[in-house]
Amino acid sequence: MKIARFSRIGFILAAAGSAVGLGNIWKFPYIAGEYGGGAFVLVYLITVLFVGFSIMIAEMLIGYLGRKDTVTSFEELAPRNSGMWKYAGFQALAGLFVMIFYSVVIGWIFHYIVTSLTYLPSTVKEAETTFSAMLHTDFLTQLFYHTMAFSWITYVLTRGIKGGIEKMNMVLMPTLMIILLGMFAYSTTLDTFGKAFEFMFSPDWSKINSEAFVVAVGHAFFTLSLGMGAIMTYSASMEKGSNLVTNAFWVLFLDTTIAIVAGLMLFTFLYQYGAGPAKGPGLVFISLPAAFYEMGIIGNVFAVAFFIALAFAGLTSGVSLVEPMVQYFIDRFGWSRLKASISMGLFFYLIGIIAILSNIDGFKEQLTWGSRNFFDWVDYVTSAIMLPFGGLAMSVFVGFVMEKQRVESILKPHLGFAFEAWYFSLRYIIPVAMFVVMLGLLGILE
Ligand code: PFF
Repeated sequence: MKIARFSRIGFILAAAGSAVGLGNIWKFPYIAGEYGGGAFVLVYLITVLFVGFSIMIAEMLIGYLGRKDTVTSFEELAPRNSGMWKYAGFQALAGLFVMIFYSVVIGWIFHYIVTSLTYLPSTVKEAETTFSAMLHTDFLTQLFYHTMAFSWITYVLTRGIKGGIEKMNMVLMPTLMIILLGMFAYSTTLDTFGKAFEFMFSPDWSKINSEAFVVAVGHAFFTLSLGMGAIMTYSASMEKGSNLVTNAFWVLFLDTTIAIVAGLMLFTFLYQYGAGPAKGPGLVFISLPAAFYEMGIIGNVFAVAFFIALAFAGLTSGVSLVEPMVQYFIDRFGWSRLKASISMGLFFYLIGIIAILSNIDGFKEQLTWGSRNFFDWVDYVTSAIMLPFGGLAMSVFVGFVMEKQRVESILKPHLGFAFEAWYFSLRYIIPVAMFVVMLGLLGILE
């Protein structure tokens, strides 16, 4: 049987599709706002460049050489203790767990595409009431749109690497970029663009503390889709002879550019028509719709276009969150793609319903433990524990366990003299950084 492989551009768009997600357009602007802008953005950029880039190359390498699902790839590439190392491949589970709440949020976005056609809230207060009514009381709407997100993602997964994942990304990614760039171009014509620019790029170091630092590093990981087996699984279908370094560079470049463009544009709109940089997860669902309202009818057009772009970003990432476990069941248990896709789809879909309920009045009390409800617990466990653990495992694996000669033979031709620097940072700098982040996230998110 001929194995389906991504084309070169197909791989870059699919990996960028994975990276560019709700993290870039929904999360990045609001955490940048929360931690005061400039200094946070700078720490994030430095981390993406130095830590993210190195681990991205390592994760691609494991997939590219392993050619199988994440568990088998670790197992086959480990020269010794393969029985133990294969467990590092279960980082793929983190993606499936993230999907439990990710799909619910994609559902909210679908809902906002539809409502923004005819309605925008006239004040932030009203926007808040609308959002919170949906979140806390409207189970059926959330269920309906969560079902749509599930159906879309599961369908694409059943179509496989070429006919599903590559095809979807080849259409959705360019469309998303065109929408965002169009809106960004418009935002540059507004007076407040300069203010937004200053907010994002002039660092106020007094705002940065160890918490902001840890959050920036954690976010750099999440936004690049690292540590959950997504990039690894896609890389298993990379063309032979690919240049991993330029591929990693492109993914990094697109991911970062889109986050910055989205941030600048959103902050410009919020300065111009709203109340300035909003904080918190309500930024795109609360402050932004109220700002669009002020623009009149063009505001509706912008809102719909914006939520479509956000939905595309979410869907392309969503598929990559589930594909690693789909591949796992195909490779290890001989399941058909159809069976594996539907089973994994149903897994996140059904548990996702509990995540919806954990925000609904009357249910949330039973679904809250300590300071978090079920929805927040899933987010916390995956991003504070599983994700840094995946990153740590990969850097130790490529840095210490795999034969250096093998690593060198693939990467030296592309990294040249920088190879040794990359190898050094993978062995000594990144594991320490990951460990610190893990401790930090566990402590500060309490
Ligand atoms: N990078 C995606 C985002 O920024 O929303 C989320 C994500 C996708 C994380 C796939 C991890 C992953 F494996």
